Order: sequence, then structure tokens, then C-alpha cells
Amino acid sequence: MTGGGAPRDFVTVARVHDLAPRTGRQVTVDGRWVALFSVNGEYHAIDAICLHRGGPLADGRLGENCIVTCPWHGWQFDVRTGVLVQDPAVGVTCHETRIVGDEIQVRLTD
Ligand code: FES
Repeated sequence: MTGGGAPRDFVTVARVHDLAPRTGRQVTVDGRWVALFSVNGEYHAIDAICLHRGGPLADGRLGENCIVTCPWHGWQFDVRTGVLVQDPAVGVTCHETRIVGDEIQVRLTD
């Protein structure tokens, strides 16, 4: 169930073999664009729209230390937390992930 203050459900967004290591993919969860990343065998999900001008974070380069660089103007976000590297006081929302069998699932945080 979603909305109404009820806890959201996990939603299957991909299978583990769909996402090569150190790559990102934009998925939709309950109508919201989410950027899903594969890093070191773990999966991280953050809002897909860059805080600056709305660039597609899933298309960004994923560097060391789990930092993705927005392809439009270079703002950088930690995919584990959504925090903006250049100003840690702000960031994009980070969402919960889990693996069930070979399915990657995401649950929206808000
Ligand atoms: S839109 Fe992402 S850095 Fe400008």
C-alpha cells in the first residue's frame, strides 16, 4: 500500500544481471524517478533528478567512493546517502534497497 501515511512496499525494479557493476539505471518506483546504482556488489537508490537543473543522475559517471557525477554540470552525489559532495547540508533523497532472489527491490523513503 502507498500513501495515506501507510508504510510503502518494496517494488521490484530490476534483476541483478540487468545492472553491470559500477553502472546506474533509471527506474520508476510508484511513479517516481529513481537512480539505481550497482557498487561493489551492493545496490543503492537515490532520486534520479539532480538538484541543480534536473540532470539525469543515473547517466552520471560513477567514480570511486560511491560518488556519481551529474552528466550535465558536474555536481556530485554520494549514492549511499544522496548527499551533495559540494554542500553536504543538502542532497537528494536516498531510498531503501534489498535483494530478493535475483530481484532488486526499492522502497521509497518518502
Ligand atoms: S543539472 Fe546536475 S549539475 Fe547541473
